[in-house]
Amino acid sequence: MPEQEFDVTPFDVEGAVNYDSLVDKFGTEEIDEELKNRFFEIAGDENLYVKRDFVYSHRGLDNALDEYEEGEGFFLYTGIGPSGKMHIGHIISFYFTRWIQEKFDVNIYIQVTDDEKYWDRDITDEEIDKYAEDNIREIAAVGFDPDKTFIFRNREYMGNMYDGIVKIAEKINNSQAQSVFGFEGSTSIGMNFWPAIQNIPTFFEEKRCVIPAAIDQDPYWRIQRDIAGKFGHKKTAAIHSKFIPALTGPEGKMSSSKPKTAIMLDDSPEQVEEKVKKQAFSGGGDTLEEHKEEGADLSVDTSFQWLRSLLLEDDEELNRIAEQYSSGEMMTGEIKEILIEELNRFLEAHQERKENVDQKVEKMMYEGYLAREMWEKNIDLELKR
Ligand code: TYM
Repeated sequence: MPEQEFDVTPFDVEGAVNYDSLVDKFGTEEIDEELKNRFFEIAGDENLYVKRDFVYSHRGLDNALDEYEEGEGFFLYTGIGPSGKMHIGHIISFYFTRWIQEKFDVNIYIQVTDDEKYWDRDITDEEIDKYAEDNIREIAAVGFDPDKTFIFRNREYMGNMYDGIVKIAEKINNSQAQSVFGFEGSTSIGMNFWPAIQNIPTFFEEKRCVIPAAIDQDPYWRIQRDIAGKFGHKKTAAIHSKFIPALTGPEGKMSSSKPKTAIMLDDSPEQVEEKVKKQAFSGGGDTLEEHKEEGADLSVDTSFQWLRSLLLEDDEELNRIAEQYSSGEMMTGEIKEILIEELNRFLEAHQERKENVDQKVEKMMYEGYLAREMWEKNIDLELKR
């Protein structure tokens, strides 16, 4: 791959992503100032990730907001592939999803893909089980409303969804699956069927589905938007985030399969400190003199980018850091200390909540209001034309 090129698929991200051109390539829309303000106004609050353009693109968010204002509402859907422990990149989209649930008081469905990852990775059933249980506890720690949230593992809930999946699968052919996802001769045939399964939750309610996720998942939603009308359903809406860049720099994304790139949700304060000090990519000058003279390049500096997009709410403090660091007054060591402190504050609160999630997990999977309703449902679809 020549320099400056990048590739984004639901399975991998390579190169330094140019997010503006990705919007053109995928055919999505940027969240402009007008939509941002409308979103915040209806929510009655601002959201950091949207405000700082970490969440930056969408399909049909304006339609979902119209329908919300008209009283019809919408529902949320997102998911996780249990192929490893979760890192902060994974959990941010869940925190964003919780924010929407809180502000709009809507149902959320969370798909745990213990089938997809078995097909797509070299992984045993025992590993999948271990990670699924752990990932579900991480997600429960985010603090969703247990009566309005349904977390399900595909292999367990499949009986309730299978009729609908059969109908969706009939509408997707091999050429679509190959051209959208790049499946090849060596790809497991399970993956050919997979887009039907990732799309079924968008049909769980009559209302419009809204999916908060990183933009890598968008190819699935393109297929859904092509076929939804055939079943008399609304096209799903999606709100796309960028990727949290790898700790090691702006190429690729944070990924649990590349440990150097990631801060894991169960990292201890000491591990965070060591990783940030050793691995966090610096936009600062190579030598002290050079740094003092030229300052830091904020656009590639992991510490600055993470603080800006995810962690530091205080605009004034962020501006102070930007000014001092880009002018060379602040050193890389100093901004790393700030990042370590903020990361550890975030992780400590998350880990503490994770200690006490057993009851919530039970409710979100089986016993809460929405979960009980879902276990009684058979999800089927009827062809309208
Ligand atoms: P998975 O497990 O690869 O990723 C789970 C969620 O985390 C997002 N993500 C990231 N976001 C920001 N920065 C990163 N570095 C980063 N890495 C991953 C992903 O976009 C995703 O939102 N097939 C899916 C599971 C799934 C799903 C869904 C995801 C099933 N239904 C509906 C989103 C919405 C998967 O393997 O995700």
